[in-house]
Amino acid sequence: MRRTSIVDLLAADAPRPGVTACGWVRTRRDSKGFVFLELNDGSCLTNMQCIVDEGTPAWAALEGVNTGASLCVRGDLVESPGKGQKWELRVHGMDVLGLADAETFPLQKKRHSDEFLRTIAHLRPRTNKYGAAFRIRSEAALAVHDFFRGRGFSYVQTPILTGSDCEGAGEMFRVTTLPAVPDTGAAPSPSGSVFDRDFFGREAKLTVSGQLEAEALALGLGRVYTFGPTFRAEHSNTPRHAAEFWMIEPEAAFADLEDNMELGESLIRHVVRHILERCEADVSLFDKFVAPGLRGDLMGLAGRDFVRVPYREAVKILKDSGKTFEYPVSFGVDLQTEHERFLTEEHFKAPVTVYDYPKSIKAFYMRLNDDGETVAAMDLLVPRIGELIGGSQREERLNVLESRIRELGQRPEDYWWYLDLRRYGTAPHAGFGMGFERLIMLLTGIANIRDVLPFPRTTGSLEF
Ligand code: 4AD
Ligand code: MG
Repeated sequence: MRRTSIVDLLAADAPRPGVTACGWVRTRRDSKGFVFLELNDGSCLTNMQCIVDEGTPAWAALEGVNTGASLCVRGDLVESPGKGQKWELRVHGMDVLGLADAETFPLQKKRHSDEFLRTIAHLRPRTNKYGAAFRIRSEAALAVHDFFRGRGFSYVQTPILTGSDCEGAGEMFRVTTLPAVPDTGAAPSPSGSVFDRDFFGREAKLTVSGQLEAEALALGLGRVYTFGPTFRAEHSNTPRHAAEFWMIEPEAAFADLEDNMELGESLIRHVVRHILERCEADVSLFDKFVAPGLRGDLMGLAGRDFVRVPYREAVKILKDSGKTFEYPVSFGVDLQTEHERFLTEEHFKAPVTVYDYPKSIKAFYMRLNDDGETVAAMDLLVPRIGELIGGSQREERLNVLESRIRELGQRPEDYWWYLDLRRYGTAPHAGFGMGFERLIMLLTGIANIRDVLPFPRTTGSLEF
């Protein structure tokens, strides 16, 4: 089927006779002697206005063609005399590829709620909003690769099946081929455990982060990044948490926390600029219908310096704010979304990187600061979303790392290979994880993570 995408037809600089276009009918309007069909093929937001005149061979094929039908039309691309579009397609011939029953097809021309559209996630890519969201998602992924390539980072793939819990948060999905779910309570130690009979001979999980393996790769390749799916069995039913989400995790050798902050800030600015340049029309849709002011906000993000503030100071700002938070803050307490949003939306009115968190609320691998109390951690917070990036400089000193692992009640032997990286040619290094869905929420103004993932997985939801 030799067809031209509608996005390319609409970009034509001269009339083009004899073109073929395919797509789904968004609307049909009948007039005396002709029919208007708005055709969309997903290549862009704009529909191709097609006109079928009575008497053409296409006319007979119009029978039963309604919203949702898929067509292949042949005709001439001509300048449109009507308002609202530069080009229109005068149709001569038409093949109906598939009809859509007007009684049952759920996507009739009207606005549907996000909640309803989630129940038809298989059809929502055919709506303006979701088409735009998933095109932006695609462009953002390309911009991420483009950014890292420009900075000499190698793209690496880390395993999805893992035996270790990188974040130590215990929110992992178990993977097993055993016929019955084993009772782990009955066998607390890994040796002689029920998992001896399992596929890997030990307990296996879905990864929550590729970081530990990315560190090994960075301490050989210098600069690497991963971009892949991660899994967390979080029961928190929030608009910002999914059980399956994509993470971008750069890791750089010979880098410190300062380099890490700069990398995260530049990455965000790069992707935002790319989207503003490449996804004009799609951004306009979100600016108009989903998050008024989005374009201005994104332009602001692309151009400005981000704020950096130590955790200790952030806590002081929150305490002095006079606001009553649901969760009171004090040193040693993790920041909640309400605090993060206050800092970015009300206090600084800018993205903020909070750094040097108390060690008690952060993972074992973060580098201990000289005060013995805080670690070289960073969270980059953005308006409306809160935490977009979490990362740190890594503990590169073998003895400090070992005692941190013990402090947290874990066994250094379980991390033998991770500790080897410190035993042999250790080097300062740093990295972070950026939640890709949260980035898409930032770029589109979409407020619920379920609407930036084509087929979201959250607690109690595994349809499609
Ligand atoms: O802050 P997190 O937990 O950091 C790590 O996993 C580190 N190992 C990353 C690293 O240093 N290489 O997660 C990183 C980011 C968060 O800032 C957030 O944007 C996103 O991942 N994230 C989630 N996104 C969607 N749903 C969830 N359940 C998420 N949990 C984290
Ligand atoms: Mg985090």
